[in-house]
Amino acid sequence: MEDLEKKRLEGFERVFGAPPTLRVSAAGRINLIGEHVDYCGGKVFPASLNLCCTVYARPNGTGIVNVYADDLDENAKLEIGKIADYKHLKWGRYQAGVAYVLAQAGYPLVGCDLYYSCTVPFGSGLSSSAAIEVATAVALNEIAGTPYNLKEMALLSQKAENEYCGVSCGIMDQFASAMGKKDRAILLDCKTLDYEYVPFALGDCELIVANCNKPHSLVESKYNERRAETDAALAKLREVYPQITCLAEVTPAMFEEAKGVLEGKIRDRAEHVVYECARVGEAAEAMRAGDVEKLAALINASHDSLSKLYEVTGREPDALAYAARRQPGCLGSRMIGAGFGGCTISIVKKECAAAFKAQVGIEYQRETGYAASFYDTSIEDGVTVRRL
Ligand code: GLA
Repeated sequence: MEDLEKKRLEGFERVFGAPPTLRVSAAGRINLIGEHVDYCGGKVFPASLNLCCTVYARPNGTGIVNVYADDLDENAKLEIGKIADYKHLKWGRYQAGVAYVLAQAGYPLVGCDLYYSCTVPFGSGLSSSAAIEVATAVALNEIAGTPYNLKEMALLSQKAENEYCGVSCGIMDQFASAMGKKDRAILLDCKTLDYEYVPFALGDCELIVANCNKPHSLVESKYNERRAETDAALAKLREVYPQITCLAEVTPAMFEEAKGVLEGKIRDRAEHVVYECARVGEAAEAMRAGDVEKLAALINASHDSLSKLYEVTGREPDALAYAARRQPGCLGSRMIGAGFGGCTISIVKKECAAAFKAQVGIEYQRETGYAASFYDTSIEDGVTVRRL
């Protein structure tokens, strides 16, 4: 047995006094392109990672869901009858939120012990919270023996984050975590939730995920501010185009025609969304056609727009992406996720990957004082379930 698995199983018995009966994993994600457009009804292009949240579980015959995290040594006792009352918890409220929305949607809850072990780095922009939510939703249903579908679990997980935890995130992260497939990217239309899998193929290049390791700050308030700004832009553009229901329905040509009704930052935010949505379609085409250079150029354009128009990058993510682009064999690099810290993805020729990591690490640290981390990633199934 793998060492890590053995350690976790021993940990479970130490904490809960008996072995688990179930193991569920839900993945973190990268997003190739389509950033800050999911809540505007745009298309996104994420893929689920080998980095994941794993939950070991067993029913405990009580009315309590016990949760414990081995990486944080945190625990919480969630009484099923009082599941609405845990919003204040510093740790455990994501799990409580998922249990709460499941119960509200009519899924029965059964008392159980849940042991969390997460390899998605927290606060990294790789969606550790979505991984925790989706893993919790699946584990609770598996323990209760209730049939469920993964798309529904993604939606309920998002609902928990929006309504219980107070973060107004879109659907991308939970969807990618629940619906991801090995060696596939998901082209997801966030307005209709239609999706298709596109083979994740980068020819003689690989995808390198790097963390700028600057602690996120202000993410939630800035995120909610951007959402309000895009709502304001939509309201103004509807004066010109009454038929539109979301910003993603505005094409670049429509935007150029009507942008005079928008002012200052609101215009910049809308411009990012409109052109980012256009780039997603081109990127999916480029990936299908094996045109990695084109894909990488679009990735660069995405970052530049997030930096200049949407203003969600900041000094460190900019420094990391630009250090990456200076390296031989790097075709493109950008920040992913909500921003204000977190991770970048870079498309790099395989033969240059080792030198790339070393040199980016040096240049980034010289510039910012932070040491970057690089992860060994692969694209894997979003959810896996195993009876033990
Ligand atoms: C966070 C949110 C997502 C999405 C991204 C930005 O990861 O959870 O819904 O909005 O930011 O693209």
